[in-house]
Amino acid sequence: MNLRRDAILREMGLAPLWRLRGAGQGEAEPAPAEISPERVPVVLQSASAPMPRPARPDLRESLQQAAAPVVPVQPMQRSDVGGAVSGLDWETLEATIRGCEACGLCKRRKQAVPGVGDRQADWLFVGEGPGAEEDERGEPFVGQAGRLLDAMLARIDLKRGEDVYIANAVKCRPPNNRTPEAAELAACFPYLQRQIALIRPRLIVALGRPAAQALLNEEVRIAASRGKLFSHNDIPVVVTYHPAYLLRNLQDKAKAWEDLCFARRTMAGLKAS
Ligand code: URA
Repeated sequence: MNLRRDAILREMGLAPLWRLRGAGQGEAEPAPAEISPERVPVVLQSASAPMPRPARPDLRESLQQAAAPVVPVQPMQRSDVGGAVSGLDWETLEATIRGCEACGLCKRRKQAVPGVGDRQADWLFVGEGPGAEEDERGEPFVGQAGRLLDAMLARIDLKRGEDVYIANAVKCRPPNNRTPEAAELAACFPYLQRQIALIRPRLIVALGRPAAQALLNEEVRIAASRGKLFSHNDIPVVVTYHPAYLLRNLQDKAKAWEDLCFARRTMAGLKAS
């Protein structure tokens, strides 16, 4: 067993590697509903000091250790746009997103919605795609789901724009708010990837299945992925329900709260390591 990793896990309150959820975390979390007392796999990096940002393991490793493995599907083909945006600064990136015609979503958008927040944030929250209000205003999560997201952030002492960046997996509104298709996620992914490279967040929270799929490049089931630490380019990724889903499924709000507490503990550990 890697001693360095053990030490980090202990600092995060996650040791041993197989952590039993809900056992004396000292937080006002609801009783774990779905994934307790299942053993929850946590996969972390062997960080090398003094890097402020952690190195993390291969996604394969986390998937292999998953108690309920995610069903892998054909990975998405990443877009050709990738190379073109990989070196862009923020202003050019946002201008490129606003003018993007890489997929059909551009045809019906009022405007593209690049993202909002602290460009040096430790936290990156990734949603699915803009809805009607976001399309109108050019900012992610400003509608009803956004108000819930703000409330969720507040529950873990976070605030939009303060050490938090919010982006979407696709930057243009899918017609009638339908779920983005795999090809659209793939076409837009280089923009998210460039945002991640510029922000260098310590932790990414994927809100819902399309966001998780875009980040992990795999088919993802939220219920089976909650409470696990995944990795995108060595950045830990926590998966939880999308706020719009929670508005329709109030019974799962407690699970999302649990996930956010998990994310908060993970962040505390990352900062301490
Ligand atoms: N839902 C999302 O996924 N993103 C938004 O910006 C708004 C609603």
